[in-house]
Amino acid sequence: MDYYTDYPLEKYTTFGVAAQAARFFRFDTDDELKKWICYEGHNHPEKLILGGGSNLLFTGNFGGTVLYPAFKGIEITGEEGDSTLVRMAAGEEWDRCVEWCVEKGLGGIENLSFIPGHAGAAAVQNIGAYGVEISDVIVQADGYYLDNGEAFSMKCSDCDYDYRYSIFKGPLKNKVVITSLVLRLSRVPRFNLSYGQVQEAVKKHGKINLKNIRNAIIDIRKEKLPDPAVLGNGGSFFKNPVVETSDFEKLKKAHPGIVGYPLENNKVKIAAGWLIEKAGWKGKSSGKAAVHEKQALVLINRGGASGKEIAGLAREIQSDIQQKFGIKLEPEVNII
Ligand code: EPU
Repeated sequence: MDYYTDYPLEKYTTFGVAAQAARFFRFDTDDELKKWICYEGHNHPEKLILGGGSNLLFTGNFGGTVLYPAFKGIEITGEEGDSTLVRMAAGEEWDRCVEWCVEKGLGGIENLSFIPGHAGAAAVQNIGAYGVEISDVIVQADGYYLDNGEAFSMKCSDCDYDYRYSIFKGPLKNKVVITSLVLRLSRVPRFNLSYGQVQEAVKKHGKINLKNIRNAIIDIRKEKLPDPAVLGNGGSFFKNPVVETSDFEKLKKAHPGIVGYPLENNKVKIAAGWLIEKAGWKGKSSGKAAVHEKQALVLINRGGASGKEIAGLAREIQSDIQQKFGIKLEPEVNII
């Protein structure tokens, strides 16, 4: 375990904005974390659990205690019919996990290739892309309660998974630390090519298999999304808003090009990127913060932007979209 005070967080979030944590603890084993919770945890009323920092925007210094689980390890833990169970430690880079599984011929998360962040955070925010969400394959998430150090093992059905949502973002936010997840992956081909562009992109790599799908997804993401190592960003800044079908129909009359995907229960998920582009924000800057020129849902740090600047741009966009379309955009990024 390592402990620091007034610790710089710039390298710990993909936005790359300057901020400090009053206290920062890094844990390399479950045991270190468990002991810390039992003997030290009560001295730290305000805690924040940090994963790969790919969905976090600090708008100033954080006066509380950052807990950084750095546990590593990926292993096969069993088989169920034609599925294999894989356990991954929360501190593993998510994309390393995807690569590991694809190389072993285990399918289910190849569409989630190249998403920045750690495995633990992937389970917290139910990462999703190209027709797949991690909740489709999660069996359980294991970890500890921060108030008493008790271990938990939460089945997928108890995690309240929904679009970019889980119990760990809701009632259990910053109340538990996930130490590892178990995924159920398929040893037989079951590909999801429902997202139009994926089929086309796979063809460029050859036949349809896990590796080629992974490479196609990487191509698509590289083409549209900025590399955080070059341009700080947190992926999609806002969630795609969900509205009643009747409201979508009204919007469609006023804006015939609007993009929406029908969901169950008479709802439609609207492409927020379309709304933001249509409102004229694509490629626009506000100081050192900007809207990405290829994907309007992504806000970027052009270099040296503060978290406040980026959050300010986000607020301007929100109020403009509210005014122009009557839709409230909710941030997907966790603003601290
Ligand atoms: N669009 C525009 N202009 C833009 C961006 C998008 O008109 O600048 C329209 C286009 O019609 C496009 C549609 O929006 O066809 C959807 O765009 P895209 O496929 O890029 O997906 P998205 O809805 O913007 C979501 C996820 C992404 C995920 C992609 C692919 C959310 C908030 N975002 O974006 O996830 O990679 O689908 O499945 O659900 C992330 O969460 O950080 C993330 C990148």
